[in-house]
Amino acid sequence: MCGIVGGIANRDITPVLVDGLKRLEYRGYDSAGVAVLDEQACLTRVRTVGKIANLQQELTKLPINGKIGIGHTRWATHGEPATRNAHPHVCKQSVALVHNGIIENFEGLKHTQQAEEYLFTSDTDSEVIVHQLHKHLNQGKELLLAVQDTVDDLEGAYALGVVYNAEPDKLVAARRGSPLVIGIGEEENFIASDMAALLPVTNRFYILEEGDVAVLARDGVKIYDLNRQPVTRPVHESKLSSDAVERGEYAHYMLKEIYEQPQAIAETLEGRLTEDTVLEASFGPKAASIFKQVRNIQIVACGTSYHAGMIAKYGFESVTRLPCNVEVASEFRYRRQVVQPNTLFVTISQSGETADTLAALRLAKEVGYAHTLAICNVPESSLVRESELSLMTRAGPEIGVASTKAFTTQLVAILLLLIVLARRNGLPRDMEAKVVEQLRQLPGMIEDVLKLDSKIEKLAENFADKHHALFLGRGMMYPVALEGALKLKEISYIHAEGYPAGELKHGPLALVDADVPIVAVAPNDKLLDKLKSNLQEVRARGGKLYVFADQHAGMSAGEGVTILEIAPVDIAISPIIYSVPLQLLAYHVALLKGTDVDQPRNLAKSVTVE
Ligand code: G6P
Repeated sequence: MCGIVGGIANRDITPVLVDGLKRLEYRGYDSAGVAVLDEQACLTRVRTVGKIANLQQELTKLPINGKIGIGHTRWATHGEPATRNAHPHVCKQSVALVHNGIIENFEGLKHTQQAEEYLFTSDTDSEVIVHQLHKHLNQGKELLLAVQDTVDDLEGAYALGVVYNAEPDKLVAARRGSPLVIGIGEEENFIASDMAALLPVTNRFYILEEGDVAVLARDGVKIYDLNRQPVTRPVHESKLSSDAVERGEYAHYMLKEIYEQPQAIAETLEGRLTEDTVLEASFGPKAASIFKQVRNIQIVACGTSYHAGMIAKYGFESVTRLPCNVEVASEFRYRRQVVQPNTLFVTISQSGETADTLAALRLAKEVGYAHTLAICNVPESSLVRESELSLMTRAGPEIGVASTKAFTTQLVAILLLLIVLARRNGLPRDMEAKVVEQLRQLPGMIEDVLKLDSKIEKLAENFADKHHALFLGRGMMYPVALEGALKLKEISYIHAEGYPAGELKHGPLALVDADVPIVAVAPNDKLLDKLKSNLQEVRARGGKLYVFADQHAGMSAGEGVTILEIAPVDIAISPIIYSVPLQLLAYHVALLKGTDVDQPRNLAKSVTVE
């Protein structure tokens, strides 16, 4: 949450900042701002409420130029979205700062600073940092030392970018708990919350480690670790092309990302399968020695990634016969754990920077989980770097806030893990070969499901004027229903709930009437007959049913029942296949409602605060 960008160059930095902010907009978009030091080292700042487009417009009216500057796009935590709360924050016209994270001891610091007559102009926690910095600078310290001393005063999480008019040839950055990278250019250097923000200017990066403080000049970067010792960090070369994060011919990123799923899945499988087996080494060189010890699995994740974890639990327990628990990270991290011996602790995350998931991983290591594995889409992320094993989902950058291709590639990664673990627990070779064959066919099958797009677009008309919707499934299809409901509520703002169909009679049936459309996912699995009975219960109460059903499920359309047929698929991959039409449904309903599909209100893609 919140995106930071900054740079020092021999050219005007403002366009780089604004372009970087546009690329970071998925992290938050309720207000934005930039501050630059001009040729006379004079600090100027422009801030606006709303999206980066508003900032761009303001900058055409009030252009600011300089060769060093910082920018920020905000997802509000402390203080409403308002210009006064937008970053950069400035103290006494001399020092400016952008912050991503949460400062937990801000009240105490604020109290002291107010007593020292520092003037507060915002309701944010971040503003205390800039005043604290000013206090240290006022004691005659150089900017680097002042930043180091300031971060020692802070409790909580931060990524920071700072410029100071008395040292106009330095940009100082710091990181603890929130992501920050340094982009290495020719006679110019940059900072950003992620690499994608800087791809138009460089593909070479340092990734700051926890506690690092860095000084960027035009001709180089110096990094100091937690103990204030100079350190060298490895240079990472990003293979992403700058247009990988562009929308192309699609109306929205979400639609582009839905349509990219066949390719993303093919990439996720690339080099990880032999003709009929899954390569264990895909999980890293230590995988074999770790997997042979595993007797339990604990999965932790948030949001859509948590739904992937729920599906994994069904699969792991039924096929590997290993006990598997799954929990949302924000709960897991704040309760006492019972750690079973030889438990593999698995995190699932698109970004690898979700604060709760990362904190859960750190806790897991502390409380003695045997081994850790991250299923993640960002190779350079904290989660991957801090886990023993990892499997990258290779979905490519996902920009739409509502996760689509990241989810289905997570499900593919989970199947790979399932096979590898099940093989060690006696999975017959022919069953492994069968799943591998299904995986190979998966991209083509998704192409086929995508052909339902125009029918789903039509179906969406039944939802656009509704206030509530129910999504039903059983077994592995229950989390698929949860994910379908999440997609719909995230982007169309229709209240939607996912329910295990057998649980309907214990409450939600009371909600059913002709104004609550009910979506069901009905592959031809062993729970099909049970599901059909549950749907009868709905129909009997006047509920309108929209069922994505296997061609051979024996379900027929009729009064109040619409069926969209899906080609028969094996149970192992059915959660992947059936998720796709639900993504399209949410997309088309949101389009009809005229909401902001890619940047729905109040949400952000990468939740790097608690
Ligand atoms: C946010 C995003 C979701 C995502 C969740 C977890 O809520 O909007 O799409 O599923 O964070 O993110 P992660 O990066 O850990 O998968």
